[in-house]
Amino acid sequence: MKRVLTGIKPTGSPHIGNYLGAIRPALRFADDPGLQALYFIADYHALTSINDGAELDRLVYEVAATWLAFGLDPERTLFYRQSDVPEIFELSWILSCFTSKGWMNKAHAYKAKVAENEEQGAGDVDAGVFMGLYNYPVLMAADIVLFDTDLVPVGKDQVQHVEIARDISQRLNHVYGRELLKLPEASIDASTAIVPGLDGRKMSKSYDNTIPLFLPTKQLRKVVNRIVTDSTPPEAPKDPDTSTIFRIYQLVAPPDRAEALAARFRAGIGWGEAKGELATVLDELLAGPRARYDELIADRARLDALLTRGAERARAMALPVLARVRDAIGIRR
Ligand code: TRP
Repeated sequence: MKRVLTGIKPTGSPHIGNYLGAIRPALRFADDPGLQALYFIADYHALTSINDGAELDRLVYEVAATWLAFGLDPERTLFYRQSDVPEIFELSWILSCFTSKGWMNKAHAYKAKVAENEEQGAGDVDAGVFMGLYNYPVLMAADIVLFDTDLVPVGKDQVQHVEIARDISQRLNHVYGRELLKLPEASIDASTAIVPGLDGRKMSKSYDNTIPLFLPTKQLRKVVNRIVTDSTPPEAPKDPDTSTIFRIYQLVAPPDRAEALAARFRAGIGWGEAKGELATVLDELLAGPRARYDELIADRARLDALLTRGAERARAMALPVLARVRDAIGIRR
């Protein structure tokens, strides 16, 4: 069975864009009977940006409850917290001893920070760069290769990190002259949707244009009503494909309903009415998960038990890999 692994960074409350762009495709992937999925909450990766203890704690549970509410089956899929698997951090150190500093200089997140400093004329190009950010790709490599991972489903922005994981593993394999670590491959899901936000740009926490996942019906309608539209009169024909309302609708409604709404756009539909249709379909889609989410988020003991059990199973899987590496490098008992 091929192993597929991905990390979920708990840096914001999950929104519709996360669901359509990441959660839904990942859960479909996990259903493939030929695959063993490992999905984990990368809480220590989040520490590079979330420096508020109460917030990180809250986000970890929100993310866990969200994935479970949408149907992640913790029996089939290994679902765990990164911080519950100490072997990851041990391997991370080992890998760092085989990671050229030059590779890290080229990592996107670090380079972006340096570019920002240069633009602002900061005397030190490394101003505000912490080692956690700099070493981020090494920890991510450990997340991946500790489990002999075959496939890593990620967005385009993460492909470089998977390549770095390959480079580090190759280096280790070369130094010790054997296949110590499996080389993972990134898998980019081409069908993964770019979900527009309230203002038409990509839905993202940083643009403050998100539709949260688990609002009560009335509040959900209010947020959908904030989608930016122009002043075309209600009776004027409209192009569904350039409308944020329709583009979101299309991602959540069955094809025949989407086609019917597209026809109404072309015939002329008022923006208010179109928003009403979108809110209705979203509410239908989210009602079930919302009820499950509310139940889960109120029961931390149950979430803890699930995640701890997931971590135990993950650690059992990691053990032979770490033993192999320790033996090769000469950390032996
Ligand atoms: N860096 C990823 C992100 O920002 C999260 C992540 C951490 C990850 N470890 C991983 C993804 C391992 C895939 C595999 O989204």
